[in-house]
Amino acid sequence: MFITFEGSDGSGKSTQIHLLEDYLRKNGQDVQLTREPGGTDIGEGIRQVLLDMAHEKMHARTETLLFNAARAQLIEQEIRPALSGGKVVLCDRFADSTVAYQGYGREQDIEELKRLISFATGGLSPDLTLYLDLPPEEGIRRKLADYQNRLDVQGLSFYRRVEAGYREMIAQEPQRWVVINAGRSLEEVHQEVVRAVQDKLTALAPSR
Ligand code: TMP
Repeated sequence: MFITFEGSDGSGKSTQIHLLEDYLRKNGQDVQLTREPGGTDIGEGIRQVLLDMAHEKMHARTETLLFNAARAQLIEQEIRPALSGGKVVLCDRFADSTVAYQGYGREQDIEELKRLISFATGGLSPDLTLYLDLPPEEGIRRKLADYQNRLDVQGLSFYRRVEAGYREMIAQEPQRWVVINAGRSLEEVHQEVVRAVQDKLTALAPSR
């Protein structure tokens, strides 16, 4: 089973994905946790290039191609083998982030991006995507207290477009997404994440 986490910056995805990893391991699941961009040596190298504050001249198409190069490597090297081995794969961001950030955020053509994503993923799509829902203003406030990278220094209007993009994607494919209110305590959010994952595991389990 392939589960991805999405949400705006500062929504607490990374904390929640680690809590879910611990929970699933304790319940006997074979879990592999990874992240985008990154998750392989090649992908982590690309991540450095993408986040480097010195790369302010990076063109939006260059950025898009780099995210998708890292993604192709991660899928072939890590995700497909893990899924074939029966693992539950948890990924901190996936292709929906490209549609939200490079498509809606940077205003590149969505249909072109979808063709590029299909090339990069070879058609692989998550079974379940958890959207950690937090108003962009709150996400920015949380992020400002944190370390900043090149992709963090966008204005509020950028993050509003990203959020609107996610909402459109969720409306187009409601069976894949679960929206979780990320404005509550860590424990409350974790409980809802667990519920959504358990429901999906039950739905996908072979019936006897
Ligand atoms: P992170 O902060 O969740 O690790 O993600 C790094 C940044 O990369 C975040 O600002 C979102 C951005 N991003 C994209 O713009 N497009 C993508 O395809 C991915 C995977 C991430």
